[in-house]
Amino acid sequence: MTPKTTSLIELPADLDCTRLPQHVAAIMDGNGRWAKKRGFPRIVGHQRGADALRNLLRCCKDWGISALTVYAFSTENWGRSIEEVDFLMTLFENLFQIELAEMVSEQVKLEVVGNLENIPPSLYDAIDRARTATQHNQGVRFTVAINYGGRQEIVRACQTIATQVQQGLIRPADIDENILSQHLHTADLPDPDLLIRTSGEMRISNFLLWQLAYAEFYVTDTLWPDFDRRAFHQALLNYQQRHRRFGKI
Ligand code: IPE
Ligand code: IPE
Ligand code: MG
Repeated sequence: MTPKTTSLIELPADLDCTRLPQHVAAIMDGNGRWAKKRGFPRIVGHQRGADALRNLLRCCKDWGISALTVYAFSTENWGRSIEEVDFLMTLFENLFQIELAEMVSEQVKLEVVGNLENIPPSLYDAIDRARTATQHNQGVRFTVAINYGGRQEIVRACQTIATQVQQGLIRPADIDENILSQHLHTADLPDPDLLIRTSGEMRISNFLLWQLAYAEFYVTDTLWPDFDRRAFHQALLNYQQRHRRFGKI
């Protein structure tokens, strides 16, 4: 998704442009609580959450962050009411349609990851059209996780690799981290440098279990619909204070 305004948002002066995360991942949590606090139905929180996402994508583009991956619907979220699930599926479909022209013109390259076999066919078609239309874009890599579960993704990768072993294409001893990574939905993306989770929850909720091995975690009490440019600025400032050691001293 891309925002409606076209004026460039400048990188805040206190951020070091040479030390920005290249890939930011976000668990967009707290839409329901945001709505409840205001006496609205939960779906209003999801609508406002979409606005927050649009603004975040704009910031990434303007500030030179090359990849953004967001958790929109987990394999566990099917456990919610039919009304909420239906609303979310329709919201995603509408957003992919409405925002497509702007994603094309803004050079956003859209990818959707997750098990897309049992999402509504009309949503699948909207995703397919948006992916195809943006596949050659050279700007921000924008990945949306829908019906995504990290464990399921790893199991699926193992099944594919096991089939290749069975067919004699590779030997068990050839299987390494690189081969496993290449069979994940995110095969052609670098691992996230920064994971943001809103609404104060300190858990990973089955998101990018493999890919987040060395990401910096940033948890904020801000609820997702309130996660605006200032909140993202704070997250980046915090990230730039971290010392990433990767196991070294
Ligand atoms: C995140 O907000 C959006 C989705 C999981 C689809 P929630 O809907 O989980 O909001 P809370 O956690 O109930 O406040
Ligand atoms: C994680 O949020 C999934 C998404 C943001 C899409 P949840 O609200 O589903 O996670 P839990 O239930 O608090 O772990
Ligand atoms: Mg939640």
